[in-house]
Amino acid sequence: MKFPPSLLDDIRARLPVSQVVSRKVALKKSGREYRGLSPFKTEKSPSFFVNDQKGFYHCFASSEHGDIFTFVMKTEGLSFPEAVERLAAEAGVPMPKFEPRTPELAQKIQVEEDARSRLYAILSAAQDFFVTQLRSSAGAVARRYIEEKRGLSHATIDTFGLGYAPASRLALKQHLIGLGFRPDEMVASGMLIGGDDIPVPYDRFRARVMFPIADMRGRIIAFGGRALEADVPAKYLNSPETPLFHKGAVLFNAARARPVAHIKSRIIVVEGYMDVVALTEGGFGEAVAPLGTALTDDQVRLLWRMADEPILCFDGDSAGQKAAFRAIETVMPYLKPGTSVRFAFLPDGLDPDDVIRQSGPAAMEACLARTRSLVDVLWDREWASGDWSTPERRAQLELQLNTLIARIENANVRGQYQKEIRDRLFRAWGSQRRPADRTSNYRVPNKAGTRRYVPGGVSGYAPAVRLPASQSLRESQLGSGPTTGFPQREAVLMLTLLNHPWLIERRCEDIAQLDFTHRALATLKTALLDIAAAHSNSGEQPLDSSQLQTHLRVLGLDVVAAQVSRAVTHTGDKFAATGSEASSVEAGWSHAVILHRRQVDFQRALEAAERAWDADQSEENAGRIAELRSLQSQRLDMDIA
Ligand code: UTP
Ligand code: MN
Repeated sequence: MKFPPSLLDDIRARLPVSQVVSRKVALKKSGREYRGLSPFKTEKSPSFFVNDQKGFYHCFASSEHGDIFTFVMKTEGLSFPEAVERLAAEAGVPMPKFEPRTPELAQKIQVEEDARSRLYAILSAAQDFFVTQLRSSAGAVARRYIEEKRGLSHATIDTFGLGYAPASRLALKQHLIGLGFRPDEMVASGMLIGGDDIPVPYDRFRARVMFPIADMRGRIIAFGGRALEADVPAKYLNSPETPLFHKGAVLFNAARARPVAHIKSRIIVVEGYMDVVALTEGGFGEAVAPLGTALTDDQVRLLWRMADEPILCFDGDSAGQKAAFRAIETVMPYLKPGTSVRFAFLPDGLDPDDVIRQSGPAAMEACLARTRSLVDVLWDREWASGDWSTPERRAQLELQLNTLIARIENANVRGQYQKEIRDRLFRAWGSQRRPADRTSNYRVPNKAGTRRYVPGGVSGYAPAVRLPASQSLRESQLGSGPTTGFPQREAVLMLTLLNHPWLIERRCEDIAQLDFTHRALATLKTALLDIAAAHSNSGEQPLDSSQLQTHLRVLGLDVVAAQVSRAVTHTGDKFAATGSEASSVEAGWSHAVILHRRQVDFQRALEAAERAWDADQSEENAGRIAELRSLQSQRLDMDIA
């Protein structure tokens, strides 16, 4: 819809910018202008200016600039028409009616509009009815369920407008007839079940806790109903598609979540209504859910209006993983520079409601702090889909990945994905070499040799020039655990922390700086720091091993932790074991940290040298690698000594 400029001017004339802005930003008068802290950037001294005469704001911190319409669009995530509508109402300026060309058309539109407003009215009346029922004696059973069994507070029940549909086929119908609505409209609104083969339409929702579903403006357009008994055919029942409700275009709780999402720059997508409710109660108002179906592209677009990287939350089990993969398929084509999705995987078999009830909001926040990027999840899926031990199979993997990437419509994002996947393949093929190939096959390339650098030298293929790829070198050098591929020293460092959790708090600065090259260990490290921080805030006794294990189990990291202790095969690292003296634990750990740091620095230098060689196969670059390599063997000798 195009708005006449006079309408926009009318609204601007009645609403000073300072009035609109001051709802979000504390403004101080400064000469002819107002100034305050930027709503677009965190800052300490105010660089956000508002000029009512000129009708605009300007932010020197972020270079944002605009009028009242852009301000509400930017800070509340509204579209332009929504911003106009909102501010028109606030200014008391009537919105113009769309003028149809012929009287017949006008008549038809009027009829349709009337019919739609009657549907809205039916849903709103039904909502009042369900809320009243929940408070009545008939609703006692539902109240018991949501308050006692699900633990919801009165405030939460009110916020979400939860209600109760009584166990009757005619209760709502009778009530709505009393208000002057017709059964055919009630059927059209989705509230009654009717049709050619149903002589007497009857209430769709019976004996259920009712969750009203609203559009972005907060108008009720549908309901979801949860059964009270476990043995009912459908645990949840939703309104059917109606003129007001298209389930693929709506997210549960979107209207309430949007302002919160803007403040927090975060939107969380979960699977169930109860998850949204529990999250909101736990302080995560920025939560929404699709309506019992996989995420659609319309819903993804809606999410991107609320945050750049919506977090999609899934159960850590295989069903959750599948759902995540499906979401990837949906999202891939529409990725834009700066906009994507991230994934949070919850502990096996738990949904967000369970996590919050069992372990509290901090545990949920910890899950949300450890999200995975789309490219990581995508890579893992493709990598896990086969065995890449022959050239043909490896080519197959490349093909699969390239096919997926080709679906990205935006050229910049596609280009970045191509680059990233090339790099990952490069590293992966490097690490696929047989152990026998890993040791020194290094030869300084001569000018006559093939100038192509084959990363890591794939087993079974002997290139004319072969340099060690850092990944394979890293493994031979650090020695991997038998099954997990954890570098031995990293596993020892981690095991020390797992067995002696008091050390985590004591050395948290060192731990934060510690580079774990293995991704699972890096994840575990962040979790340990979070857990220790939360624990020390609680002011109890020092964290002990069994408490730590419980936290890790909740976070789904107990498996990795168990792998760590299996991976440690050295008998020389006694300090890591349970029961070691505190002083020897700390001394042993500190020494290992120093050696590890040295190795990581070395690794970085080697990787840089390899990159240089990759770009330019000069004698000098080859020499640099040779030099580092000899330095490395000296150092290894030193370590052993
Ligand atoms: P879940 O079965 O995961 O529900 O379905 P939940 O939210 O954890 O439910 P509680 O905790 O048992 O109450 C997730 C979503 O799938 C849809 C609903 O939208 C639900 O919120 N669903 C589920 C249905 O539409 N029908 C069903 O029978 C089940
Ligand atoms: Mn649940």
